[in-house]
Amino acid sequence: MALPAEKPAIRPQLLLVDDDPRIMSITMKNLQISGFDVTKAKTNAMALAELRAKQYDLILIDPNLNKASGFELMEMINVDKDLGGIPMIMLTGLKAKQSVQRCLHLGAAAYVLKPFKPDVLAQHIQRTLKLNDKNEVNQTAAQERKEKSNSRAQSIQKIMLKLQEGKIEFPTLPEVGLKLIELMKDEDVSFNEVSDLIEREPGISTKLIKVANSSAYASGKAVSSTKEAIMRLGMQHTMNTVLLIVNSTVFEIKSDLLAGIQRDLWKHAITVAVYAKYIGKEIGYSRPDAMFALGLLHDVGKVMLLRVMQDMPEDKVSQNVEAINATMANLHTQFGPMLLQKWKFTNDFVEVAKYHHEAPNINKHSKAVLIASFANVVAHEYENGLSESSIETISQFPHFEILKLKKQSFERIQESVSTELDGLLSILSS
Ligand SMILES: [Fe+2]
Ligand SMILES: [Fe+2]
Repeated sequence: MALPAEKPAIRPQLLLVDDDPRIMSITMKNLQISGFDVTKAKTNAMALAELRAKQYDLILIDPNLNKASGFELMEMINVDKDLGGIPMIMLTGLKAKQSVQRCLHLGAAAYVLKPFKPDVLAQHIQRTLKLNDKNEVNQTAAQERKEKSNSRAQSIQKIMLKLQEGKIEFPTLPEVGLKLIELMKDEDVSFNEVSDLIEREPGISTKLIKVANSSAYASGKAVSSTKEAIMRLGMQHTMNTVLLIVNSTVFEIKSDLLAGIQRDLWKHAITVAVYAKYIGKEIGYSRPDAMFALGLLHDVGKVMLLRVMQDMPEDKVSQNVEAINATMANLHTQFGPMLLQKWKFTNDFVEVAKYHHEAPNINKHSKAVLIASFANVVAHEYENGLSESSIETISQFPHFEILKLKKQSFERIQESVSTELDGLLSILSS
């Protein structure tokens, strides 16, 4: 009589995040021998995409990955409702007490110093997984993570399929938007061209006057005409503000849930835009006002995806906030560049939309991409309530050093940003 087939043992799924290919391949081999299934991720973006697409049991991170972004990854995991709770083990060459404390503070279950013996690491992993399994709260959380990860994966697959089949409709930019893009490309654009364009659109004109009269720009008597508003704001800032006004009305949303998410996306976009402009100014970037526009549209792919999901009522994607967020997070760096190319934005815009989540690389990314991706992480800190200690955190992002920023200069940026944000956020309130 044949013996019943032995049930194959379930191998724990590990995600290994490191940017050193040599260490990565040795560690991976040893872990596989010890009975683990290991997937590699070289950057934070790749790690996050993996974590969102598949169910992992534990993540191994080098906090010194690309200078400071391993810490950033831990923070991103912690703030993500769907990923928080996944056990993290640090693999590191950093012996400083401060680094150890920071990792533990961020929730690392263990801290393993490089070079390590393979069996020592395997023991740490086993112990952490056992502890995690015993914890009922974690078990439920793991089950929930699995269910959510399935619904996220389905929604992402469906949208990609629609895209491949050519069933996704890219929204068209109204005439005024297309004309504005042309004017923005023209270095010698005249006052009359800009004011003629705005005066043709009373809705835009009213909002522009409102911004010009907000506390950030108001000085003396209130302005009441488009021309006065342009004079007060300056040509560049006027065009940037109009870009925001036009874009914030292109993507029509019907449900309250999606409209709320869209509003938060625009708030974030404005915050990134303002940070990008002042970071650009601080480091002497030649076109800081252009940075505003680039920051404003960095996540336009997300706004577009919201619209796509709205049009998929049969899949109920648009009712599930987790699935919406994960779908946007996973696909927006593909959809954003496609949309901006269709709308004939310059390559700068396309690159920012494509690369702003990549680990900063001075050889691959333009200055504009580096500034915008830094503005993006800083905006997230701002949205979480920036404090003294967050300036410390911000200074540890690799961009900080690459862009040659100083902590004192950051305080200056902070002041300018807060004032300007008030005026621009008023656009969303009407
Ligand atoms: Fe983004
Ligand atoms: Fe963003």
